[in-house]
Amino acid sequence: MKISNNKILITGGATGIGLGLTERFIKENNTVIICGRRDSVLKEAVAKFPSVITKQCDLSSAKEREELYKWISENHSDLNVLINNAGIQQWSSITDSDFFQRAKEEITINIEAPIHLASLFINLKSLSTIVNVTSGLSFVPLTKVPVYSATKSFLHSFTLSLRALMKSKNIEVIELIPPALNTDLGGKGLHDSAPAVSDFIESVFEQLKQGKTTITFGFSEGMVKAGPEDLQKAFARMNGAG
Ligand SMILES: NC(=O)c1ccc[n+]([C@@H]2O[C@H](COP(=O)([O-])OP(=O)(O)OC[C@H]3O[C@@H](n4cnc5c(N)ncnc54)[C@H](OP(=O)(O)O)[C@@H]3O)[C@@H](O)[C@H]2O)c1
Repeated sequence: MKISNNKILITGGATGIGLGLTERFIKENNTVIICGRRDSVLKEAVAKFPSVITKQCDLSSAKEREELYKWISENHSDLNVLINNAGIQQWSSITDSDFFQRAKEEITINIEAPIHLASLFINLKSLSTIVNVTSGLSFVPLTKVPVYSATKSFLHSFTLSLRALMKSKNIEVIELIPPALNTDLGGKGLHDSAPAVSDFIESVFEQLKQGKTTITFGFSEGMVKAGPEDLQKAFARMNGAG
């Protein structure tokens, strides 16, 4: 994708990786629209980056996803990049009493929302790029986040199909595959020892400039290239099982 002069919607663009992308895309001379549930967090993003355009919305609701698309098509019909970044991570065990309820929330936000938004936004005449944010855990699951890992495997698989399906429409499909990074994903403090988002973003932009459509970093680069034995070893290392 070209790096400048785009109009971009970044879901979950007010925090963590999304905020890192927002900051860098603004610096590279793009118009950036961000959405999320928390108004206070959207306002904090505007305080940091006054040019950013915000829209409060809860992507777990199909109705709100449709309203978001309608608002964009009426007010920003020249939008050309959709970045499906919003996601949640639930630390859970299948024996938890609320396991299924929390699993459904994860499936809705991490799977239903990006595939629904993709199906809506490809109807925008100007759309040229869809970016899906998956995870290194798409390739090897962490058992502490069993449903999260599976949602990211789903999104990885869907992204491969989407890329092939969108060729005829001339829409480029990019997969951003972060490793663990220091954000509030899953709750404050859980990712404190992970690398900074800024290092990842720097590498993302280098790779985008090289025209790459599968963007990896550190752990995720290893996982994308790994064969069956390497994946088994990684699973054992991460989960303490053979
Ligand atoms: N950090 C990591 O270690 C890591 C590794 C691999 C992949 N990822 C992926 O990177 C993406 C961004 O995560 P992050 O690490 O930057 O965590 P984060 O700071 O918690 O960002 C998640 C964003 O998604 C938004 N969001 C969540 N549920 C939403 C909903 N129902 N409707 C609208 N927005 C919603 C949140 O805003 P509100 O809460 O205000 O709605 C928040 O801005 C996720 O897809 C995550 O799975 C992260």
